[in-house]
Amino acid sequence: MIEKLLKGPLELVENNFKQPTGRAGRLIGHVMTKQHRTLTVWAIEHMEVRRSQRVLDIGCGGGMAAKLLAERATSGFVAGVDYSAEMVRQSVRRNVDGVAAGRMEFKQGDAGALPYEDASFDQVSAIETFYFWPDPMRGLGEAYRVLRPGGQVSVTLEMSREASPNPTVKQRYLGKRFTERSEREGLRILSGADLVEMLGKAGFRDARFVSEPTRSFGWVCALARK
Ligand SMILES: C[S@@+](CC[C@H](N)C(=O)[O-])C[C@H]1O[C@@H](n2cnc3c(N)ncnc32)[C@H](O)[C@@H]1O
Repeated sequence: MIEKLLKGPLELVENNFKQPTGRAGRLIGHVMTKQHRTLTVWAIEHMEVRRSQRVLDIGCGGGMAAKLLAERATSGFVAGVDYSAEMVRQSVRRNVDGVAAGRMEFKQGDAGALPYEDASFDQVSAIETFYFWPDPMRGLGEAYRVLRPGGQVSVTLEMSREASPNPTVKQRYLGKRFTERSEREGLRILSGADLVEMLGKAGFRDARFVSEPTRSFGWVCALARK
């Protein structure tokens, strides 16, 4: 009964997590940015961003990761790309000083065709966006192209096959919904090992992953170098 009542609103939220659009996207984009803050902080801790680095966040959403990355790359440059015009607007608003100072920029664009030159970044991150890319290998290829040799990529997911084998009621519910949605829409639920394999196929080296099985439905962050 509750599931039936929640179905419509949940679908609206899920569709707007994939591509925030219009008035609903504006509101849900704000909620999403707040909801992902702890995951984002956790992901960035693993990136070890240095002060002078150039960093690109793909699927930047409301620009929270970019903001936190810019606090680390204080004499560097932070860019964000998202295919949602609404999210690019929210990112600019959240980082208005960095953008005005020319230390940050946000562009509307696709993970599969990044609007940047070869070897132009030291770090590329993708937080809670990878499942939505229609061609994830192409996206990883693009991350590889825009990284300088030795640069690092990181792919972070809130839901993965790293989830705890003893899930809580909430985790069981999240897992069921995500599985159903994956079957319906072809989203990929990946393990850390899957991500490591994909990174290797895209040409990256030293791929590894860290996970937090009890958070959400198994946080995972995979990292590798060009
Ligand atoms: C769930 S949200 C996560 C946003 C942000 N990274 C965060 O953690 O709050 C997914 C984001 O990825 C973006 N996105 C999905 N597929 C994309 C693609 N192929 N190219 C660029 N952006 C994409 C969506 O527009 C959305 O803003």
